[in-house]
Amino acid sequence: MLHDTPELLDAVRARFAHVDSCPFQAPRIFFENAGGALTLKSVVETTARFAAIPDNQGRDNVASLALVETINRAKADLAVFMNASSGQFFAGESGTELLFRMIRTACINAPRGAKVIGSSIEHPASRSAARRWADIAGLDYVNVPHDDATGLVTAADYAARMTPDVAVATILHASPVSGMGMDVAAIARTIRAVSPECFIIVDGIQHAAHGQLDIDSYDVDGYAISPYKVFSRHGYGIAWVSDRLTALPHDQLIDAPASGWEFGTRDTGAYATMSDVVDYFDWLGGQVSDSTDRRARIEAAGHAIHAYERQLTDTMINGFGNLAGLRDMDHVTILGGADNPAREGLVSIVMRNMPSADVVSILNAQGIRTHTRKADHYSGNVLTPLGLSDCIRISVCHYNTEHEVAQLLAALKDIRA
Ligand SMILES: Cc1ncc(COP(=O)(O)O)c(C=O)c1O
Repeated sequence: MLHDTPELLDAVRARFAHVDSCPFQAPRIFFENAGGALTLKSVVETTARFAAIPDNQGRDNVASLALVETINRAKADLAVFMNASSGQFFAGESGTELLFRMIRTACINAPRGAKVIGSSIEHPASRSAARRWADIAGLDYVNVPHDDATGLVTAADYAARMTPDVAVATILHASPVSGMGMDVAAIARTIRAVSPECFIIVDGIQHAAHGQLDIDSYDVDGYAISPYKVFSRHGYGIAWVSDRLTALPHDQLIDAPASGWEFGTRDTGAYATMSDVVDYFDWLGGQVSDSTDRRARIEAAGHAIHAYERQLTDTMINGFGNLAGLRDMDHVTILGGADNPAREGLVSIVMRNMPSADVVSILNAQGIRTHTRKADHYSGNVLTPLGLSDCIRISVCHYNTEHEVAQLLAALKDIRA
């Protein structure tokens, strides 16, 4: 496993670009993974290779056929990675744009007077889309309040607001502010128990890097990820849509095949990097299990990532050697509580008597990258009810080390002194 095999951790780190230094800053520890994870070196190489190819898809020449084959392979890889035995994957401008497109499609096809349900824990990407298109389509929006103390929304919270006329539902898989993961399968089950035909769209953008994606088990209709947050790069998003969402009339060119979702010429290199990401999970799974089955290896990688990230955040919270953890620093408050089992690789804190932005810049000056979340239109939904104007977000990934966490704890101790 990752936590007791230093050679494996070295091998993992060797696969990522800029793992311990920033091209603009020199050595740095990267705890801003929720803002964009490190990029696989294979993704950088693939991107450069495809950027140089002038050919377009759909032509009768070998280059064009190779491009189409690359896209088809990436879609097949994504189906294994995210365990989707039906439906289809496609690329769009960003995770946000894809959430808007899926939610818009579900809303404008819903019967007038029906309802859209979503939760206050969601990122504005899905909340804004649901509210805007509910309004335009003449639907009522139902808000499921999340629990401020745990930074979570549960199936029981959705159950309390569900009615049979809910036609569209949105679910956040993991929060980039509280750091907590929701039980998507349980929430979807609860929704379907009351409104079986409801279209359910999931924002998986923050969750994807933490492994364990399993669309078949969720029983939902749409799932969006942002590849730069799962070891690929910026410039596009990836969505999975169910066959029943595809069957709804949706934006596309006149007389184009009815099942299509893509707009215009596709970036083959973008798709190709998703195969690199899946190959990486497959490789990691082979290091932590003996399985000969690709999906089983990807699942093993997901479990190893989750367990190791748990260890990293526990170390941050409980301390390391003789270094006090966040829970023992009386000037520090941990959002969502110190012992929250739903935590996914992210710890948000506030320090008494010091604005979060100041803490982030002091850490930055010491080469430790974290991020300030402000109570603005991105994070106000989580911070304002807690009476907070900001917080410091520390987000890890499985390539971070306990030594890096120890350096963070030492720096935070000194900030207080
Ligand atoms: C949960 C969640 N949803 C949506 C977004 C927006 O993603 P993007 O900017 O890639 O569209 C983010 C970005 O941090 C996020 O964490």
